[in-house]
Amino acid sequence: MEVVVRSVREASLEVGLLVLLETERATSDPRASATLDPLARRLDERLGGWLSSLLRSASFRGRAQETAMLHPPAGGPVLLIGLGPREALRADHLRVAAAIAVRRARDLAIARTALRPSATRLEWPAVAQALAEGAALGAHRYGAKTPDRFPERVELRVPGAATAPLAAAARRGVAWARATTLARDLANTPPNDLVPADLAARARTIAARSGARIRVLGERELRQLGMGALLAVGQGSQNPPRFMVLDRPPGGSRTRAGRAAGRRAATGGVALIGKGVTFDTGGISLKPREGMQRMKYDLSGAAAVLGVFSALPELDPPFRVVGLIPSAENMPGGRAFKPGDVVRALDGTTIEVTNTDAEGRLLLADALAFTRREAPEVVVDLATLTGSVRLTLGGHAAGLFTADEPLARELLRASEVSGERLWRLPLGDEYAEALRSDVADLVNSAGPEGGASIAASFLARFARGMRWAHLDIASTAWAFQERPHEPRGGTGFGARLVLEWLSERAASGISRRGAASRAARRAPPSTPRPGSRARTSARGSRTTAPRG
Ligand code: BES
Ligand code: MN
Ligand code: ZN
Repeated sequence: MEVVVRSVREASLEVGLLVLLETERATSDPRASATLDPLARRLDERLGGWLSSLLRSASFRGRAQETAMLHPPAGGPVLLIGLGPREALRADHLRVAAAIAVRRARDLAIARTALRPSATRLEWPAVAQALAEGAALGAHRYGAKTPDRFPERVELRVPGAATAPLAAAARRGVAWARATTLARDLANTPPNDLVPADLAARARTIAARSGARIRVLGERELRQLGMGALLAVGQGSQNPPRFMVLDRPPGGSRTRAGRAAGRRAATGGVALIGKGVTFDTGGISLKPREGMQRMKYDLSGAAAVLGVFSALPELDPPFRVVGLIPSAENMPGGRAFKPGDVVRALDGTTIEVTNTDAEGRLLLADALAFTRREAPEVVVDLATLTGSVRLTLGGHAAGLFTADEPLARELLRASEVSGERLWRLPLGDEYAEALRSDVADLVNSAGPEGGASIAASFLARFARGMRWAHLDIASTAWAFQERPHEPRGGTGFGARLVLEWLSERAASGISRRGAASRAARRAPPSTPRPGSRARTSARGSRTTAPRG
């Protein structure tokens, strides 16, 4: 499906399905016919006044998701879709409406459809991007035996003649939607078809297409490096763990500047960490059987990061982007790690495993310690980390945890624009108190009260010295209810949010300005600090509580 932008002036009425997106009117608005735009007026003339009489009637008011279909005797069908009240209009209303339109065209096997949005409070580029996103999201189905043929082409009809910036916005919308659908597909893939090695193979393909270099570490290298926490989670499975590092310089690694950047020791830029548990049985601390099949989506953080990489060529940020994906299958078995085991993370911290089902934070502990060596300017991790965040927020928002106020503001803004909602939850030493261990630096599990904040505070310990935010997406990564632009199943949550955040950083030049020097000032040396060695060797004698 392709999305193109046309000026309403030049566009004809001859199109398979013509869709008018209308904001809400009062019950009967006598001025309705007077406010028709030129395209609607032409259409109304052709229809002998049907359209204006429909718009004057109470049978179509323009409420959000309301639809009305006209089948005139001559010309193609006309679909009206409501956007809700003009003052309350958000980009999400446009995404939903575009998805409804595309699905209707598919059901009617119509090849060409045109969307004409009425004027709103939003800027036109934002409208074009949201409509393109909604159209591409609505057109996608996981596991469709053959890709849907209809519609083949979606035209966005906009006022004014300067369509070039809107065409760019629409292209971006399609790329971002594809990032989302790529992430959805990964989360929906049956877990026997997507074990850590498969995820690594997918990451290789995506890295190659996006102009990123990639390293994939297997068990032997993980052991050499000392990533004992990730190894412990993976050791019960026949499908061994992997750790992937994608690294994309500005312009991509195949450009001359990219190759030069590759020869230098790369630092700075943005690091994105994604939890890639390809299936979470809970391990020896086995999960209940109900709904366990859904735990294939425990790689949704990794899926979002890979989705972001797939769209980086379109965005091409002027800073480095590093993706880090720790991946394992959490299984019970004769070789599995078990409650009581003490594991040692890459930074030397020892962790007493009190629940093998709190495996995500183990993986992320190693990934954060690894990330520190890459000295990025800022780090964001995405993880389906706790059931607790879903109990807290329902399916409507993901948890945002950070001590960095400017970073929180940036992410919350990106969340508003992308429609992928975040809600800030607390982080702090008082939560980490619950993680005291008698035999190691800390335990991996406590709660259930405050579970999401405890998990985040566990991570904070490994993120010390870095600008860092954690997104607990366990609440939003799976949809239980169908929506026009979001079928049941994996949602791909986080890909569009992060892309929006990166694009705002790119536009404001935040990550470029002095990124390297700032990173150098913040990042501690890459070898474990003497303090952490001393602490870990004095196992059992530590008396202070872990700091958040
Ligand atoms: N992958 C789960 C979190 C999860 C739960 C994601 C439900 C999506 C839906 C995670 O590994 C986990 O099991 N967390 C435990 C932590 C607890 C043992 C401290 C949880 O939330 O129950
Ligand atoms: Mn778990
Ligand atoms: Zn998990």
